Amino acid sequence: MFDTYSEIFAERGAAYHRAMAECPTARGAEFRAVLAPIEGRSGVLCDMPSGGGYLASYLPAGWRYLGVDPSKDFVRACPTGVECVQAGITSVPLAAGEADAVVSLAALHHEPDLAAVFSEMRRILQAEGRAVICDVAAGSPVASFLNGFVNANNPMGHDGHFLDERTAGLLAEEGFAVADDRLVDMPWKFADLAEAGEFCRHLFWMPALTADEIAAAMDREIGFETIGGRPHLRWALRRIVCDVA
Ligand SMILES: C[S@@+](CC[C@H](N)C(=O)[O-])C[C@H]1O[C@@H](n2cnc3c(N)ncnc32)[C@H](O)[C@@H]1O
Repeated sequence: MFDTYSEIFAERGAAYHRAMAECPTARGAEFRAVLAPIEGRSGVLCDMPSGGGYLASYLPAGWRYLGVDPSKDFVRACPTGVECVQAGITSVPLAAGEADAVVSLAALHHEPDLAAVFSEMRRILQAEGRAVICDVAAGSPVASFLNGFVNANNPMGHDGHFLDERTAGLLAEEGFAVADDRLVDMPWKFADLAEAGEFCRHLFWMPALTADEIAAAMDREIGFETIGGRPHLRWALRRIVCDVA
């Protein structure tokens, strides 16, 4: 058993990073989908929160990447040469208007104060800047999988507050104009079902289950499609693209 919350978090964060290190391309479509709305632009991109800076290797030339994450373990796990800083996502160490783009992927469902995060995004963006918010959509199969199966099998549970009908209004209140808002398919690609189950076992930290049990739940609740002999998990997130109003 674990003695303290920080020990549990260290274990859980390490497992997340291990999944990403062992299958670095599984979420490739997700990283490409979050960067597509800033294609053709350049400058400073702030990834908040960044985890271990996984997005950086997908960023085209012309961008300076800055990852921001509250966890020192994730910041330490960022590869050499990838700029990541430990900070809260409501207190990003950038001056007003210093960022040309802001990206937030798969994380805001754990944030208690979305208005404060959107306000911070607006503060750091320059006047022509763009924010891309990409996270689980309330009511989607991915939402049910995380707050159901993962909640039941992760020792810390999973209680995500997913993007819903209030999110776009909150962005408008914080000075953004929504340019696009939709559910985007971004399938996770694996070599086989064993790899898929093992990936989610670590990523979502379900240590008491086997990879087979987890792959079966992924298939039952989200679904796999076989393309070129390889299983692709039907992962889909809501992507909100917004510009400074
Ligand atoms: C699921 S990971 C996503 C990381 C990365 N964007 C990715 O797509 O892999 C969640 C991240 O949120 C951070 N986090 C957890 N609770 C948070 C909070 N309340 N506010 C901001 N970040 C938080 C964690 O440190 C972790 O890096």
